[in-house]
Amino acid sequence: MSSSVEQGSDSVEPTPTQTEASTGSMLTVTIGATVPTGFEHTAAEEVKEKIGVDAKISKDRGRIYFPVTSDELHQVHQLRSVDNLFVVVEEYDHYQFKESKDETLTELQELASKLPWTNALEIWKLNRGLKRKKHHRKGVNQTKAKPGSETGDVPAADTEHPVPPQAMSASEGEAKEDNTPDLEISEQDSQQAAPEAKIIKFRVTCNRAGDKHSFSSNEAARDFGGAVQEFFQWKADMTKFDIEVLLNIHNEEVVIGIALTEESLHRRNISHFGPTTLRSTLCYGMLRLCRPQISDIILDPMCGTGAIPLEGALEFNSSFYIAGDNNDMAVNRTVNNVCHIQKRRANKDSTPGLPIDTVRWDLCNLPLRTSSVDIIITDMPFGKRMGSRKKNWDLYPSCLREMARVCRPGSGKAVLLTQDKKCFAKAISKMGGLWRRMHTVWVNVGGLHAGVYLLKRTGATIGQTTEEVNEPQEVVNTQEDQTEDKDPSC
Ligand SMILES: C[S@@+](CC[C@H](N)C(=O)[O-])C[C@H]1O[C@@H](n2cnc3c(N)ncnc32)[C@H](O)[C@@H]1O
Repeated sequence: MSSSVEQGSDSVEPTPTQTEASTGSMLTVTIGATVPTGFEHTAAEEVKEKIGVDAKISKDRGRIYFPVTSDELHQVHQLRSVDNLFVVVEEYDHYQFKESKDETLTELQELASKLPWTNALEIWKLNRGLKRKKHHRKGVNQTKAKPGSETGDVPAADTEHPVPPQAMSASEGEAKEDNTPDLEISEQDSQQAAPEAKIIKFRVTCNRAGDKHSFSSNEAARDFGGAVQEFFQWKADMTKFDIEVLLNIHNEEVVIGIALTEESLHRRNISHFGPTTLRSTLCYGMLRLCRPQISDIILDPMCGTGAIPLEGALEFNSSFYIAGDNNDMAVNRTVNNVCHIQKRRANKDSTPGLPIDTVRWDLCNLPLRTSSVDIIITDMPFGKRMGSRKKNWDLYPSCLREMARVCRPGSGKAVLLTQDKKCFAKAISKMGGLWRRMHTVWVNVGGLHAGVYLLKRTGATIGQTTEEVNEPQEVVNTQEDQTEDKDPSC
């Protein structure tokens, strides 16, 4: 079998840095990770810090790629900034799609049998083993946290839904190609070891973005999936699949991968979801922006389900967190989420309790001493699912003023998330220099374009500074190459 697709020039040559390599019995593969859009550099920073490798940030916003060896796989699952993980089978930076739809789809079909699947499938097997161990530790009766109407980040690009590969009857006894990896789910490997489960079930998911394609993602998934099925003799199953093959197409970038996560890792902390629960990966990005220090007092005065302080208490646990909300249900959810994690941790060794307290309060009148808080980090009502735009015109100035009162002048910081940018900008201008805007990261929250504003509490005293001023906003990019401070939608 030929090892390269018969296509002109270098159009389908794999990128050398992404090529899988074997180091003795240790495999080196490229891991792809979806991350909250806007926080790609934060995720790359975390990968460098925890795994020690440089990550490449994809042109396709919301994805990073980095090399790992097979023994580092468990570390990859510990990353806090990543939503979904996959192992790259092959990557093409400049795939030259044919003009006609038929030719392109035929080429995608041919590609399936020519890809270097072996190492990626080995990693998938290893990953399966890791998941088994984790489930054993958790106990088999563990139920999945059910998200409510949670706001989730969606890729900025138009992602289409997975479609079934064309049903194709595999011809019995057909000789396998030599490079077909020998892969069967052993009874030991499969928890539901039904005899028929020995045949691998799979699905192909195509995520496509770009307007210059002659085909839809459904067509690409169907034809590529059909060829994968024929090549491996796997069985297509859209719901109970063992392997999810990903076909990610972004303009001329094509990445074929195998999923390593069944559900996004951002659900890790929350068992009691609310109407606007923030994904933990986004919370992590917000927390990193304000760089918590040992013994910092960190406040989320509008905590909802407590997603931000919980992520902080788990990951930056040398600080102390106070979570508050004026809604009883929200406070209860936070308490339940904290308890749930405390219980989970109590089953392990002798891990100490979480450094977090929960209070019911009105943010505009906090029961806290002036200048007693180091960092305020919160997700404000956008006025869409929570609160209203009209109410925000009163709420935003009052809360910015009260936050300025409790935050330490000169050194205090705030990281505030909102989609109501106009109201927020106006409210800040009314603060007369209590807050200075340092940096903004533009993110996508449930399809809404929102800003994460890093503010610094200036030394200005409250009372002197309530009139509206056109304060020159000092813009300092605290993270090099991070998203521009300018709102592209304005
Ligand atoms: C966008 S939600 C926060 C969601 C939260 N980050 C989560 O992950 O669940 C905003 C929260 O602000 C709360 N809120 C609104 N006005 C408030 C006020 N004056 N004082 C305290 N909390 C308030 C709402 O009850 C709501 O829970």
